[in-house]
Amino acid sequence: MLKVTKLQKTFRSGDTEFAAVGGVSFNVPEGQFASIVGRSGSGKTTLLSLLGGLDKPTVGTIEIDGQDIAAMNDHALIDYRCRAIGFVFQSYNLVPNLTALENVLLPMEFARVPKSQRLERAKQLLDQVGLTDDKQHRKPGKLSGGEQQRVAIARALANKPKLILADEPTGNLDSQTGKMIFDLLHNLAKSENTTIIVVTHDTGIAGKTDKTFRLQDGKLRK
Ligand SMILES: Nc1ncnc2c1ncn2[C@@H]1O[C@H](COP(=O)(O)OP(=O)(O)OP(=O)(O)O)[C@@H](O)[C@H]1O
Ligand SMILES: [Mg+2]
Repeated sequence: MLKVTKLQKTFRSGDTEFAAVGGVSFNVPEGQFASIVGRSGSGKTTLLSLLGGLDKPTVGTIEIDGQDIAAMNDHALIDYRCRAIGFVFQSYNLVPNLTALENVLLPMEFARVPKSQRLERAKQLLDQVGLTDDKQHRKPGKLSGGEQQRVAIARALANKPKLILADEPTGNLDSQTGKMIFDLLHNLAKSENTTIIVVTHDTGIAGKTDKTFRLQDGKLRK
C-alpha cells in the first residue's frame, strides 16, 4: 500500500546541511496499523509530513498504491491529499469558529462531495466516534480535548482516505482518554481496512500496533 524508498529530507541553515530524515526505506501493507517511535528530534514529524505530502522530500519516493506522491505537482498533490489521506494532530487543529459538525463537513466540501451526502456522512462519523448530537453542534472551544480529538478523527475519515497519519494523537490527553482514542483508531483500521501510521512517545501504545518503526537521528533502527 505504502512503499517508501531512500527517503531523505535535508534542511539547510547557513552553510550547514542537516538530514532530519536520512534515507529511510520501508513498506506498510494495506490495513496495517503501524507506529513510529523515537526521541524528540529524531525526525518523526518530518517523516510523517513527507508521507502525507505536506512537505517535499529532498531525495526518494513515496508510493501510495503505486503512485509516487513525491513526483506530483502541487495542484495534483493538494487534490490527492484531500481525497486519499487523513491527518490527525496532537493539537487537534479544528477550525475554532466552526461547529464540530461543520469541521467534519469541510473536507467533503473541498472534495466536492454532493451536498445531500455530506450531512449524512458527517453525522454518521460523529456518531461512530461517540460524539453526542448536542455536542456535534458545539464549537471546539466548548469540547474537551478528548472530544475534540474524536471530531478530528471523524474529520480525517470524512473522505474515506486510504491512509491516516496521526502525529502524537494522544499526546495532550490523560492516559485513559488517550487509550480510548487509540482504541478508536485501532478499531477503525480494522473495520474499514484503513492503513494507519501513528507517531507516539507512548511505548504501551506502540507495543499494541502491528508494526513499530524506530527512528534515531533520521534513520530506522533495526
Ligand atoms: N523546517 C525545518 N527547518 C530546519 N530544521 C527542521 C525543520 N523541521 C524540523 N527540523 C529539525 O529536524 C529534526 C527532526 O525534527 P522533527 O520535528 O521531525 O522531530 P520529532 O521526532 O517529531 O520530534 P518531537 O518528538 O519533539 O516532535 C530536528 O532536529 C528539528 O530541529
Ligand atoms: Mg514531532
